[in-house]
Amino acid sequence: MSPKSRLNVTLLLTLSILILLIAVCVSYPQRRASAQDAPNELEAVQPPVVNPMRVEGHAKCIDCHKLEVKAWLASKHATRAFDLLRTSPRSRKYAKHLGIRPSDIAKKSVCVNCHATPMIDEAGRRSVLSGVSCESCHNAAGGEDGWLNRHASYGPRGTRREQESDSHYQARAAACETAGQLRTENLYQLAKRCFACHVVSDEKLVEAEHDHGDRFELVTKMLGEVRHNFSQDTATNAEVATLWTDSLHYAAGRTSTGRKRVVFIVGQLVDLGTSLRSLATGTEENDFTDLMIDRIDEAFGLLAEDLLEEVEDTELPEIEQAVEAVDPVFEKLDDDGFSTDDKQLYLEAALQVGRAAQAFAARDGSKLEEIDDLDLLPEGPFAGVYQP
Ligand code: HEC
Ligand code: HEC
Ligand code: HEC
Ligand code: HEC
Repeated sequence: MSPKSRLNVTLLLTLSILILLIAVCVSYPQRRASAQDAPNELEAVQPPVVNPMRVEGHAKCIDCHKLEVKAWLASKHATRAFDLLRTSPRSRKYAKHLGIRPSDIAKKSVCVNCHATPMIDEAGRRSVLSGVSCESCHNAAGGEDGWLNRHASYGPRGTRREQESDSHYQARAAACETAGQLRTENLYQLAKRCFACHVVSDEKLVEAEHDHGDRFELVTKMLGEVRHNFSQDTATNAEVATLWTDSLHYAAGRTSTGRKRVVFIVGQLVDLGTSLRSLATGTEENDFTDLMIDRIDEAFGLLAEDLLEEVEDTELPEIEQAVEAVDPVFEKLDDDGFSTDDKQLYLEAALQVGRAAQAFAARDGSKLEEIDDLDLLPEGPFAGVYQP
C-alpha cells in the first residue's frame, strides 16, 4: 500500500468512526426514554425531560383528538401552570432565591420544565410552549422515527381499526413505546410523570417556600380535570382510558372498577418511590427532608398497615416486596435520622419500590375486590371533569 492510500484508509476509518459517534449521540435522547427504568439505574428524581427537538405541540394532535385538546385547554395544565410563571409575584420571589433573572423565568429556567414545555424548532430556535402539554405526559412525538407517524396506522392504507391484525397491533405498540410514547398501557410510567412534577424534589425551591405539593392521590387527580378518555366513545368522558378497557387486542375483564383499584395502589407506590429518591437528594436534615420523610411515612403506612394488614384473601406480593424494601430505611431513620451517608439505602429502596409498582401496574384489578371493603379508594364524583 502506498503511503498516500494508507493515509486515505486512515482518513476513511477516522471519518466512519466520527459518523458512528455522531449517530450514537443523536439517537441518545430517544434511547434514554426507553431505557428509563433500566434495572440497575439508581437515578435521582428530576423533572421530566422531554426531548425539546421532538416536541410538536397540541396543534399537531387537534385534527384527530379534538375533544382531548378541548378538555386539556379547560384544565390548569394548559394555561394556569404557565401563567403562574409570568404573573404570580411569588414566581419572582422563588426565582430570586435561585438566582434566576426575572426575564428568564418563563423562558429558560428550571421552572419551565414543570410549568411548561420547552421546544427547539428545526432552525434551532428555542421557545417555550404554554403549559404542561400533551407531550409533557405522553412524551415528545415528532421526528421521522417518532411515534406520531406510527401510532394511528392500522395497516395498509384503508385498514380500519377492527381489521388490524394482532401482530400489527403488537408491532405498532412496540414501535411507539420504543419511540418513547407513554400509552395507556404504560400506567407506571405515566404515574411517574405526574409525581416527577407534583413532588417538588428541589431542595432550594422548597427552601424558598415554593409549594412542595401536598399528598397527591392519583385516582382523584387523574379522574378530575385531567381526565380525557374519549378515544372509543366521544359522547362521554369515561372514568378510565377507553383504549385500555377495549377488548380488541386484550383479554376481556378489563373494567373501569379494576383500573381504578390499580391506579390507586400504583399511585401510592410511585409516591413512595419518588419521595425516597427525593429524600436521597437532601443535603442535610431540614424542612425539605422532613417533608419527604412525612410523605414516605404516609404512603408506607397506607400500604403496610391500612392495606396489607387488613386484607385476608388477596395476594399482594408486589406490595409485600415494596414494604420489605422500605423497612430498613425506617429502622435507620428511627435510629439516626436523615443522613447523606444513607443515600444509597434510600435509592436502593426506591428501586425495589419502582419494580413493585411496575409489576402491579400490569394487573387488571379484577382480583382486588377485597380492597373495596377497606374504604381506601376515593368515591366520585370528581370535581372539574370536562363534559363534551
Ligand atoms: C392522524 C390522526 C392522529 C393524530 C394527528 C394524532 N393522533 Fe393520537 N391517536 C389517533 C388514533 C386513531 C388513536 C387510537 C389508536 C388505537 O386504536 O390504538 C390515537 C391514540 C393516541 C393515544 C393513546 C394510545 C394508547 O394506546 O394509549 C395517545 C396518548 C395519543 N394518541 C396522543 C396523541 C398526541 C399527543 C398527538 C399530537 C402530538 C396525536 N395523538 C396525534 C390518531 C391521531
Ligand atoms: C419539580 C417541578 C416544579 C418546578 C421545578 C417548579 N415548579 Fe412551581 N409548581 C409545581 C407544581 C406541581 C405546583 C402546584 C403545586 C400544587 O398545587 O400542589 C407549582 C406551583 C407553583 C406556584 C403557585 C403556588 C405557589 O407556591 O405559590 C408558583 C407561583 C410557582 N409554582 C412558580 C415556580 C417558579 C417561579 C419556579 C422556578 C423558580 C417553579 N415554580 C419551579 C412544580 C414545579
Ligand atoms: C411537567 C410537569 C407536570 C406533569 C407531568 C403533571 N403535572 Fe399536574 N400540574 C403541574 C403544574 C405546574 C400545575 C399547576 C398548579 C396550579 O395551577 O396551581 C398542575 C396542576 C394539576 C392539577 C390541578 C391542581 C390540583 O392539584 O388539583 C391536577 C389535578 C394535576 N395537575 C394532575 C396531574 C396528573 C394526574 C398528572 C399525571 C397524569 C400530572 N398532573 C402531571 C405540573 C405537572
Ligand atoms: C397531565 C398528563 C396528561 C396530559 C397533559 C395529556 N394526557 Fe393524555 N392521558 C394521560 C393519562 C394518565 C392517560 C390514561 C388515562 C387512564 O388510563 O385512565 C391519558 C390517555 C390519553 C388517551 C387515551 C384515551 C382513551 O379513551 O383511551 C389519548 C388519546 C390521549 N391521552 C391524548 C392526549 C392528548 C391529545 C393530549 C393533549 C391535548 C393529552 N393526552 C394530554 C395523561 C395526560
